[in-house]
Amino acid sequence: MYKIQNHKVSENQLRQTHLDQDGYERMYRQSIEQPDMFWAEQANRFVEWMQPWSKVHESNMEKGEAAWFVDAKLNVSVNCIDRHLKTRADQTAIIWEGDDPNDSRYITYRELHEEVCRLANVLKERGVKKGDRVCLYMPMIPEAAFAMLACARIGAVHTVVFGGFSPEALRDRIQNAECDVVITADEGVRGGKTVPLKQNVDKALTACPNVHTVVTVKRTGADVAWDEQKDVWYHEACAQVSKECTPEPMDSEDPLFILYTSGSTGKPKGVLHTTGGYLVSVALTHHYVFDYHDGEVFWCTADVGWVTGHSYIVYGPLCNGATTLMFEGVPTYPTASRCWEVVDKHKVNVFYTAPTAIRALMALGEEPVKSSSRESIRLLGSVGEPINPEVWEWYYQVVGDSRCPIVDTWWQTETGSILIAPLPGACGLKPGAAMRPMFGVVPALVDNEGNELDGVADGNLVIKQSWPSQIRTVYGDHHRLIETYFSTYKGVYFTGDGARRDADGDYWITGRVDDVLNISGHRIGTAEVESALVLNDYVAEAAVVGCPHDIKGQAIYAYVMPMKGVTLTDEVMAELKVAVSEQVGAFARPDFIQPTTGLPKTRSGKIMRRILRKIACDELDTLGDTSTLADPGVVDELVEHRLNRG
Ligand code: PRX
Repeated sequence: MYKIQNHKVSENQLRQTHLDQDGYERMYRQSIEQPDMFWAEQANRFVEWMQPWSKVHESNMEKGEAAWFVDAKLNVSVNCIDRHLKTRADQTAIIWEGDDPNDSRYITYRELHEEVCRLANVLKERGVKKGDRVCLYMPMIPEAAFAMLACARIGAVHTVVFGGFSPEALRDRIQNAECDVVITADEGVRGGKTVPLKQNVDKALTACPNVHTVVTVKRTGADVAWDEQKDVWYHEACAQVSKECTPEPMDSEDPLFILYTSGSTGKPKGVLHTTGGYLVSVALTHHYVFDYHDGEVFWCTADVGWVTGHSYIVYGPLCNGATTLMFEGVPTYPTASRCWEVVDKHKVNVFYTAPTAIRALMALGEEPVKSSSRESIRLLGSVGEPINPEVWEWYYQVVGDSRCPIVDTWWQTETGSILIAPLPGACGLKPGAAMRPMFGVVPALVDNEGNELDGVADGNLVIKQSWPSQIRTVYGDHHRLIETYFSTYKGVYFTGDGARRDADGDYWITGRVDDVLNISGHRIGTAEVESALVLNDYVAEAAVVGCPHDIKGQAIYAYVMPMKGVTLTDEVMAELKVAVSEQVGAFARPDFIQPTTGLPKTRSGKIMRRILRKIACDELDTLGDTSTLADPGVVDELVEHRLNRG
C-alpha cells in the first residue's frame, strides 16, 4: 500500500480533498441503500433542470433497460455554458494548445456561448432538427467541442468519428448512424504532419447520398475540393447567423450521442448515450475522481473521438465550470518534453492520460521530464488499459515527484463515465489497481458459469445494478445490446473484462476476456482486422490475436491462409498491412503477419484462439491440449514459423 508523501507540496496540493475514507464510505453506502435519494440529491447538485423528474430511475437488468430522471427536461449545452455565465463568463473554459508550441487559444465561457450558438444556428439553417444525427470528423481543435455542444443545444445527436479512421470506416459510421450532415476541417495537424480530413470525407461521401451538408473548418488553408451545394465554410456560415440560439428542452432520456466502439464480433457498434443520466454521472465523477476544485486547469490528453474525450474533455469539466485543456498534438512533438512544457505553460493541475503514452515517454528516459517543473500538477490519472506496476511507479515517482496521487480509472465507452477508481483522499494507492467502485456502482466477479465469487477472487467483471450513464442501446440494433452485454450472465451487465479482488476488497482489472484487442489504448475487434484481411484476393482465411508489446500494450498478430495458388511474398504482406490501414485505420495495422497452410480448428471447425495466442506470445510451454484439433500437425508448422520470438 502506498502512502502519499506530501513532500515538496505547494498549498494547492495540501488543500482538503472533497472526501476522506469515511465520507466515501458513507456516500457509497447511501448510493446503494437509498439510490433514489442519493441520485436526486446529486442530480440537483451537479445539473440544472428545466423540469423535474417524476421518478429517479427505473431499470431492468435482464432486458438491458434503464431510464434515469424520468420525464425531467434539461439541455446539456445550457449546463455546460449558460449556467456559468452569471459567475464565470470571463473565465477560460477551453485552453487550446496547438500542435505547434507557439499556437494557443483561450476561450472564455462567454466566447464559448457565442461560438456554440452560432454553429447551432448554422446547423438549424441547414435543416438539422432535434433527433437528427450529425457526424463530426475533426482534429483536436476547439471547434470540435463547439460542434458537440451545438448539436446538444438543438437536440441533434452527434457521432464523433476519430480523425485517425480511414474513409471506409468513416463511411460505415455515417451510413450506420444515418447522418445527413458532417462537420470536419480541411486538414488536421498532428506531430508536424497533416491529415487530409476533408479529402477523406469526400471519399466517404461517394457512398453516402443522404449527406446534404459538410461544414468545414479552415485549419491549415490547404486546397480542398468544393461542392457549392453541399460544402459550407465554418467561419463564413457562422459569421452570417445570430449569436443567440434558444436551447431545445430535451427529455432526460433523449439521445445525446452515438459513439462507435469495437466488439468481439462483427462491425463496430454505435453505443448510444442519453442526456440526463450521462451528464449527472460525468459531472459527479469529474468532481470526485479528480478531486476537481474551482479554478483548476484540467488536462485530459485523449482525443474527442473517444469516450474519454467526450466525458472528460468536454461534458464533465464544462458541466462543472472547469477550465479544460485541449491538445492538438502528440506527446513527443517537437520534443519528448512536450507534455511537461504544456503543463508548465498552462499551470495544469490534473493530468489524465493513457498508460501507452506513459510507456512511450518512459522509454525516452527521465531527462525530458526532469527539465520541467511540473509544480502545478496535483493529481495524475490513467485510463484505457491496465497500467503495469513499473510504469505506475515511473509515473508516480518521475512525473509526479512522488507527491501526486494516481487515479487509475476503469471504465468503457458503454459505461459513459468512470465506474472504478481510487478516490483521492478516500483510498490508498496500489500500483496497477483500479480499487473501489464509484457511487451507485455494484461490481461483482463471476465464474464462466455465472456463479458469483466471494472474497478474494479472479473472475469476469460484471455490474449488478443500473447506473445513470449506462449504455441505452446499440444504435439501430437493440437486440445486439442485449446479446452483447446482458445475456452472457443473466440479470447483470457483462463488461468483457476480467478482474481480481484482493483481500482488502480492492479491484484489479486484468484485461479483456473476449476477442477485443487494446492497441495503444485503442479498442479493436479481432473480427474487424480479420475481415479487412480476407477482403482482398490473396487471403482465404485469417485469424487475429494480440500479443504483448512494450509501448502499445498489445500488438496485432495475424495468421493468414493464402488463396489457392497465391504466394504470400513480402510485397503481398506489405499490401495486406496497407489494406488493414485503409479499411480500419493506421492504428490497426498488424505488427506480425504469419502465412500458414492451416489454422488450429476443432473437429466442429471452431478456431482455437487460445493456441494461436500462445504461439503469438511465444509461450510454447503452456500450449495446452492440442489433441482435440482436427489436425494437430498444424500446430507444429505454426510454432516453427512463428514471428515473435522471446
Ligand atoms: O479493457 C478495459 C480497458 O479499456 C476497455 C474499454 O475501452 P473503451 O471503450 O475504448 O474505453 C476506454 C476509455 C474508458 C475496457 O473494457 N480499460 C479501460 N480503463 C482501464 C482499462 N483496463 C484496465 N485499467 C483501466 N483503468
